[in-house]
Amino acid sequence: MNYIGSKHSLLPFLERVYRKISDGSETTFCDLFAGTGAVGRHFKKLGMRVIANDAQYYAYVLNRGSLELNHPPRFTKLRKALELPAPVDLGDTPRPTAAVFGFLEKLPRRNGFLAQTYAPRGGRLYFTQENASKADAIRARLERWQKDGLLTKNEYFYLLAALIEGLDDVANTACIYEAYLKRVKARAARPLRMSLPAISNGVTGCRVFNRDANDLIREIECDVLYLDPPYNGRQYASNYHVLETLARNDKPMVKGKTGMRDGLVRSAYSRKREVTDAFEDLVRNANAKHILLSYNDEGLMPLADIRRILALRGRPKTFKTTYSRFKADNGREYKRAATVEFVHYVRVTKG
Ligand SMILES: C[S@@+](CC[C@H](N)C(=O)[O-])C[C@H]1O[C@@H](n2cnc3c(N)ncnc32)[C@H](O)[C@@H]1O
Repeated sequence: MNYIGSKHSLLPFLERVYRKISDGSETTFCDLFAGTGAVGRHFKKLGMRVIANDAQYYAYVLNRGSLELNHPPRFTKLRKALELPAPVDLGDTPRPTAAVFGFLEKLPRRNGFLAQTYAPRGGRLYFTQENASKADAIRARLERWQKDGLLTKNEYFYLLAALIEGLDDVANTACIYEAYLKRVKARAARPLRMSLPAISNGVTGCRVFNRDANDLIREIECDVLYLDPPYNGRQYASNYHVLETLARNDKPMVKGKTGMRDGLVRSAYSRKREVTDAFEDLVRNANAKHILLSYNDEGLMPLADIRRILALRGRPKTFKTTYSRFKADNGREYKRAATVEFVHYVRVTKG
């Protein structure tokens, strides 16, 4: 997923930093601002038991539908109830998944909330009418299956994560949902397909939360605490409001040209006046051996504050690498630009 601030391409760097700071005894890793879950999944593959968290529900689903699973689901009850045939064309997709994806993608279309709000008939062009009504049909069916007890929790979140990724893949945007394009781009014209969540067979017992980081920090303990908060004033709640609505399935009041959800919860990490206090509170309450913070040099929080706050818990150190990320251009277009990415670190010895 093309997620703003995704650390997908920084994983080798994060792993190098981890190997430098590790004393070999670490077993637990917490990805407190998990987004797509790329970092947590990577450290799970390295053998760590991972706790992932994000305040946005769609991000919770993306993590919950992959990190907590060690094998693709079997859908035993569902396949029996539906008498689903074993598919012939498998590719990389596990057989039970292919059968269920195939069934969902062929459902009769539904004129639901997305089709009425975010497609041409609703006066907006986030999706083609066909893809929005296909997503509505799949979303409604997942809820029904869940209610009828045909899906385990893992199966439900796995399918919902597959739908979120699949729909995002055909969104008619320049990356985020604060605006849609005037004409349907080629990618958005393609049919919506369920997207295979990345499951790795690692340790059991990984856990995913949908909490505010500053609340959750008071209840958890880990060896490595990885922090990747937003670093600028753009709120993830508004950047990804359509995915939040798809994940929650709550048919909210929407407003304006973009159809923004009402009552967005805004993050303190995207507010200049609040970010430093929030970060200090987080670091003071961290129960970890190592604290790592990814933060961009153009971030809202000054470097001096970062170092002062980390110094409350030990002697801070900084690792850096050059990295290419999405950068805003005239507020609408997003393109890749080289930037320096920092990882600030402290080995906790105090407090
Ligand atoms: C830079 S992104 C993380 C990207 C992630 N590392 C990845 O590779 O996909 C920051 C994330 O922090 C989440 N977030 C913002 N404020 C938060 C808060 N107070 N508590 C928990 N999560 C928060 C956002 O929803 C967003 O997904």
